[in-house]
Amino acid sequence: MFASARAHTNIALIKYWGKKDQKLILPYTDSLSLTLNEFYTTTSVQFDEQLTHDEFSINAEPVSEHNQQKLAHFMDLIRNQRQFNLFAHVNSVNHVPISAGLASSSSAFAALAAAASKAAELNLSATELSRLARRGSGSATRSIFGGLVEWHKGHDDKTSFASPIDEQVDFGLEMIAILIDTSVKKVSSRSGMQNVVATSPYYPAWQEVVKNDMVAMKAAILKKDINLIGQIAEENAMRMHALTLSAQPSFTYFNAASLTAMDMIHDLRSNGINCYYTLDAGPNVKVIYHHQDREVILAALSEQFGHNNLVVSQPGPGIQYLK
Ligand code: DP6
Repeated sequence: MFASARAHTNIALIKYWGKKDQKLILPYTDSLSLTLNEFYTTTSVQFDEQLTHDEFSINAEPVSEHNQQKLAHFMDLIRNQRQFNLFAHVNSVNHVPISAGLASSSSAFAALAAAASKAAELNLSATELSRLARRGSGSATRSIFGGLVEWHKGHDDKTSFASPIDEQVDFGLEMIAILIDTSVKKVSSRSGMQNVVATSPYYPAWQEVVKNDMVAMKAAILKKDINLIGQIAEENAMRMHALTLSAQPSFTYFNAASLTAMDMIHDLRSNGINCYYTLDAGPNVKVIYHHQDREVILAALSEQFGHNNLVVSQPGPGIQYLK
């Protein structure tokens, strides 16, 4: 009863920001993301009759009390589905170029869902696996698949899952992650989105924004139009971040360096280089562009941020099982 799996991080081009159901992690809106090849988590799970509780390690270190509870709760879902009462050794390793706190919950829960369900011999389909990963972290539901992926919000546990839009992505779409600040974020996405849903007067408008953006983004992907993809993603991200500013209490994930990076992208654009930005629940800026423009963009950004803080990523694969 052992299995090991690898999952890659994804970055949302149309953001998920708000839960209708906290327990089942059902979102208010659909969302759409790009799975990246550079950032991933490898997790192994071994069920063991000798154990009286689950034992977790991340990067060979024991996990915090808070994470221990979150992970054990997730393992209970596996035990319930399999109808057994075995505990497991769970070892997880985050592979990032340098120690960057980049969207690791998406790859972490996708890898755990895959390894734990395989070790428990649950034989899940990709859709069922996506639903299971969702219960750990919303964005993990999309990391089951490679390339461009859509999460259908659904209306219950059965109907809320991701599916691939384009697993190959052969039209030069690339992303640079600017590692601005890699420490743990001050406001977790979980509590940040809860606050926004409860207090931002703009939340109803956000739901309309996402409805329109999903349609426009899928059309842009069909046309393989990177400029349009970038434009829609940037606008969508700014509208998500406007929600945090309009919450009570108001908060923001931007810091001064994030604003500098956004400014530089605007400058590059006015000089004819097509590039766009998106940000998640933290200050790190991700740049969207066609790979033919990579060198110019890297040259401009490295003057400000240093070459070692720029990570180029291409579209990455879905879940992989390891021997
Ligand atoms: C800004 O998936 O981390 O990255 O479901 O509470 O675990 P939980 O939240 P999480 O939120 C991701 C928020 C985001 C946008 C996105 O990935 O769609």
